[in-house]
Amino acid sequence: MFSKQEGKDNLPTATIATVDYEYIQHLIRERSGIVLDEDKQYLVDARLTPVLRQEKLSSIQDLVVQLRAKPFNGLHQSVVEAMTTNETLFFRDAHPFEALKSKVFPDLLVARETKKQINIWCAACSSGQEPYSIAMLAKEFFGLHPGWSTRIIATDLSRDILARAKQARYSQLEVNRGLPATYMVKYFKKEGMEWQLNQEIRNMVEFREMNLTAPWPAMPTIDIIFLRNVLIYFDVEMKKSILAKARGLMSSDSYLFLGGAETTLYLDNRFEQLYYGKAPCCRLRKS
Ligand SMILES: C[S@@+](CC[C@H](N)C(=O)[O-])C[C@H]1O[C@@H](n2cnc3c(N)ncnc32)[C@H](O)[C@@H]1O
Repeated sequence: MFSKQEGKDNLPTATIATVDYEYIQHLIRERSGIVLDEDKQYLVDARLTPVLRQEKLSSIQDLVVQLRAKPFNGLHQSVVEAMTTNETLFFRDAHPFEALKSKVFPDLLVARETKKQINIWCAACSSGQEPYSIAMLAKEFFGLHPGWSTRIIATDLSRDILARAKQARYSQLEVNRGLPATYMVKYFKKEGMEWQLNQEIRNMVEFREMNLTAPWPAMPTIDIIFLRNVLIYFDVEMKKSILAKARGLMSSDSYLFLGGAETTLYLDNRFEQLYYGKAPCCRLRKS
């Protein structure tokens, strides 16, 4: 049984006909921007096995026949969603969250003193650990400053993962990954085998479906963007286009955080990369 987070080791070699593999590659790229290299047949095979089971189909060849027969519908969407990687955890990489606490929130407290409102966008939010980590920190920080409000918009391509995120219920394993014990005690309640996040923190996050590679819906000006661990799946032109659109949502003193393997370098020279502690952060160049 494969999970959506496992690597390539010890997986059986899949045999998918080239034409079928090319069809899947094209569908995924067109609908999500995700580039599937030629050597990812094992991954396609592993990820689409549950879709085959659900649709009572016996092979990827049969699945492709079904997909080709109809315009884009729920089955195509299921295939696209099955091919996304949803790996995430609370306070992933720690440093960007440290930077929020020690630098970004205190600076915005001064810079947005008149409005007393900050907008945060967590793009590609997966099952919610990232936006909820931000929400808990924002509650801890801005909760000490009466009259302030924090709006957190969390978006993802996948409807299934957004449905999970909205439930805000996590397994023991998931809370063990990155969530400080103090926050677990303060903000979560054990219900059966799972941990339920409290309503106040859930209410701070507004979930929306959004495909980063399709035209973007109207968005407010954003003070802090978390666009982490998703650009890696796109080709250079798509990365450039997404960074340019993200830039359009930022004001001159907004902050952009990318994933550990992502950068604006060689993609968008209107950004400069600074370090807050050990966290790389992208800011708009002044000139
Ligand atoms: C590896 S997770 C990253 C989650 C979180 N940002 C983090 O760093 O822990 C990647 C997420 O990107 C989403 N995704 C993939 N392609 C996307 C697209 N074109 N538009 C929006 N989200 C996308 C996937 O559904 C998945 O939830």
